Amino acid sequence: MRLKIYGTGSALPKRVVTNDDLAAFLDTSDEWISTRTGIRERRVLSEETLQSLAERAGAMALSSANVAPEAIDYVLVSTVQAETLTPALACDIQPALGLKCMGMDLNAGCTGFIAALAVAEGLIASGRARKILIVSAEAVTRFADWRDRSTCVLFGDAAGACVVGEGEGVKDIRFVSEPRRDVLCATTPPGNSPFAGELRPAEYLKMQGQEVYKFAVSHAFRDVREMLADHDLQPEDIDFYVLHQANMRILEAVRTRLKVEPERFPHNIERTGNTSSATVPVLLDELNRAGRLKPGCRVILNAFGAGLCTGTALVEF
Ligand code: UT7
Repeated sequence: MRLKIYGTGSALPKRVVTNDDLAAFLDTSDEWISTRTGIRERRVLSEETLQSLAERAGAMALSSANVAPEAIDYVLVSTVQAETLTPALACDIQPALGLKCMGMDLNAGCTGFIAALAVAEGLIASGRARKILIVSAEAVTRFADWRDRSTCVLFGDAAGACVVGEGEGVKDIRFVSEPRRDVLCATTPPGNSPFAGELRPAEYLKMQGQEVYKFAVSHAFRDVREMLADHDLQPEDIDFYVLHQANMRILEAVRTRLKVEPERFPHNIERTGNTSSATVPVLLDELNRAGRLKPGCRVILNAFGAGLCTGTALVEF
């Protein structure tokens, strides 16, 4: 695999919403949310647009990679729901970033960032691109049901980004898919076609949390273990496991099964909540900006969610 991560970026909305803020209008508590999920607060889009977050994260990644906008051949945005169905957010962010290239959005749920890495690898391997900007921009709080305490307390909004290109670094990328629409689903607006028969009602995000939880723990552990075994690595050979930030208990369950120290499982879920496909690149950027991704540092990325599907990548910096 000939793919390298050259730079990272991230952006969070200004508005902080604490668990106590939620308890003011929902039958919930800081105690329940923090002990069941590890989340203490999340950032929620209020004044800003998702596009502005994506632009900030993208600009930061370009500057961190020291890559001029003219050198970018493609922009890939992973998003479950951008502000517009069309044009793609990947097109909308280009003027602000000084880009003029092919842009497309892709939706692979919470696995979107790792899916975008795989698409980028293909474009680079085929010679169609030399440098690609990936942005994962998510506004889950816009389609969560704010009357449903079992889902809305979990999510936040964010954008994470990276510039990738030819080079050594990404060693392997894999996916597992087990379609289960019944456990995690959010529908698009019903439209108003006079030919559509009975129009279905608009629906918010619905999730059977425990089913997703079981899928996440068993699959994340299995995916990571298989990746390690196939590359002749031991769990302690990995400096950081950058896992999808969905629930601190999921992270802890995977970590204890792998028998590695907490230091190797960085997390920011306590500050951000679950930001879908943005969690992995945002956390990666925080590690990068803290100077913790030293040359030679080995990282496993793993994300899981809607599909249901999982994605795993092995990266060396
Ligand atoms: O990125 C997408 C991937 N999504 C995930 O990874 C989510 C994975 N699942 C989870 O993280 C957990 O299953 C949840 C955090 C969603 C739920 O935690 P849980 O320990 O599985 O709780 P539960 O669903 O079994 O609910 C336990 C109780 C229920 O009450 P009863 O029936 O025992 O009386 C719920 O009604 O907790 C109640 N409950 C709440 N109570 C206070 C559910 N949500 C809340 C809440 N505040 N916000």
